[in-house]
Amino acid sequence: MRRLLPVTDMTAHETQAGGEDWSLDQLADAYAYPELPARATWLRANMVSSLDGAGQHDGRSQPLSSDADMRIFGTLRGLADVVVVGAETVRLEGYRPARAREAFAARRATAGQGPAPAIAVVSASLDLDFSLPLFTGPLVPTLILTGAAAPAERVRAARDAGAEVLVAGDGAGVEPARAKAVLAERGLRRQLTEGGPRLLGQFVAAGVLDELCLTLSPTMTAGDAQRIAGGPSTTVPTRFQVASLLEQDGFLFTRYRRI
Ligand SMILES: NC(=O)c1ccc[n+]([C@@H]2O[C@H](COP(=O)([O-])OP(=O)(O)OC[C@H]3O[C@@H](n4cnc5c(N)ncnc54)[C@H](OP(=O)(O)O)[C@@H]3O)[C@@H](O)[C@H]2O)c1
Repeated sequence: MRRLLPVTDMTAHETQAGGEDWSLDQLADAYAYPELPARATWLRANMVSSLDGAGQHDGRSQPLSSDADMRIFGTLRGLADVVVVGAETVRLEGYRPARAREAFAARRATAGQGPAPAIAVVSASLDLDFSLPLFTGPLVPTLILTGAAAPAERVRAARDAGAEVLVAGDGAGVEPARAKAVLAERGLRRQLTEGGPRLLGQFVAAGVLDELCLTLSPTMTAGDAQRIAGGPSTTVPTRFQVASLLEQDGFLFTRYRRI
């Protein structure tokens, strides 16, 4: 792993590390959340894209990923209070609860975080398999973000399975800014979304995405795969500035902050 940007921040161990793997501790330092004022939130997204803009191949993001990408994926989870994910990604990628990992235990304890981030599934239909470990066996209860008009029997099924259902919208759907606020009210202020594209597009369009950690995978897929953010477009393009750029095995690990 090499740090390409910012060049002025390069520390001795990063220079020496050269092409070697960084430790999870080094990665956690590189991706630390900013210091947040009281009650403020920070929503970062972690996504991977092929060179030609595909956000998945054969319905999964894994074919675009790499070992280093998965280490960063794990690190971003290790730093987050909550992982927000769209229901379709949960269904297609077979989401499991987040694990408690020794490498992040001390850091999480110091930050006043639980052993692992909660997973918050965004769904209007609640058409989810509540017998899966995501709902029955997490270290911290899985959350479901939905609208006030969610089907009552599905809400009951979710609660019976051990999930906590949080309302973040007046209709069937979740309003992106309310989702952030509802999670913050529970003390979940360091937020990470892992997509998918339909959910991420709404965070972008609502102007509530603070940071994008985008892995540029040195692959091309052609075809008609979704790109990393979909749905209605913004009125004007939202501007971001580069915060850091790492490289390993031809994969570029970019981090952008909204200006
Ligand atoms: N490249 C990457 O980094 C990356 C990351 C994640 C996923 N993916 C890929 O993306 C694909 C899935 O993504 P996707 O865009 O189709 O779906 P998605 O964003 O994961 O999930 C869409 C679903 O989320 C729920 N949802 C979204 N917005 C909502 C709102 N405002 N209120 C209530 N519910 C809402 C709805 O669930 P209900 O239908 O239950 O109501 C909707 O059907 C998969 O192929 C996955 O592999 C790629």
